[in-house]
Amino acid sequence: MRVKWSEDTESLEEVFDRRTIMTVLKMLNTGILKELHGAMKSGKESKIYHGLDPKGQEVAVKIFLTTSNIFRHGRLKYIRGDPRFKDIAHDTVSLVDGFIGKDGIPAPVLREVRLQAAADWYEKIIELIKQLYDEAKLVHGDLSEYNIMIPDGYPVLIDFGQAVTTEHPEARAFLERDIENINRYFSGLNVRTRTPAKIIGAR
Ligand SMILES: Nc1ncnc2c1ncn2[C@@H]1O[C@H](COP(=O)(O)OP(=O)(O)OP(=O)(O)O)[C@@H](O)[C@H]1O
Ligand SMILES: [Mg+2]
Repeated sequence: MRVKWSEDTESLEEVFDRRTIMTVLKMLNTGILKELHGAMKSGKESKIYHGLDPKGQEVAVKIFLTTSNIFRHGRLKYIRGDPRFKDIAHDTVSLVDGFIGKDGIPAPVLREVRLQAAADWYEKIIELIKQLYDEAKLVHGDLSEYNIMIPDGYPVLIDFGQAVTTEHPEARAFLERDIENINRYFSGLNVRTRTPAKIIGAR
């Protein structure tokens, strides 16, 4: 177990707050993580770090700051009781995910990519939304051109913090909204989109 840090360890606390350090140490001690590298992205309610799992595979570590107001009023209610968020240390919640990208550099998100054959990408993404619903029984709930990564030739949906199961009373409304967000983005690229009703059918 080691925390890999490019500067000396005294600087650890300037970068990670105390809660984050506790969460990370716990993940290192329990063998979820082998190495943790620098922060990749800092949002208002979470930070994402690059690291390695015990097998040396790259992972993305997302640590939610549950004291942030946005988080408290938004996501916390979805996260309580969700088995994916079992690693709770005081008031941080963390998530370890397979790393999408290579050598610490994340793949671009949809918004950052100049698509060749945008209509094909539209179909691929709609297909994924349907698969998520039919096979995983989930609705993403916050889908947009910022929450779809494009590694090599295929789309990957990320940022599932607010996803709901298809049994959720609002699931259908969330599904329609997800599709409308994707339609809005692809309409801007002159792709002919289909209405949520057409896509969802009798679901
Ligand atoms: N599994 C992953 N592999 C590589 N990079 C990732 C991964 N997950 C997220 N990222 C990177 O982090 C960025 C933000 O991730 P994400 O959308 O989950 O959080 P966010 O929208 O910033 O956070 P918040 O939950 O605070 O809204 C992504 O755009 C991507 O660059
Ligand atoms: Mg996001």
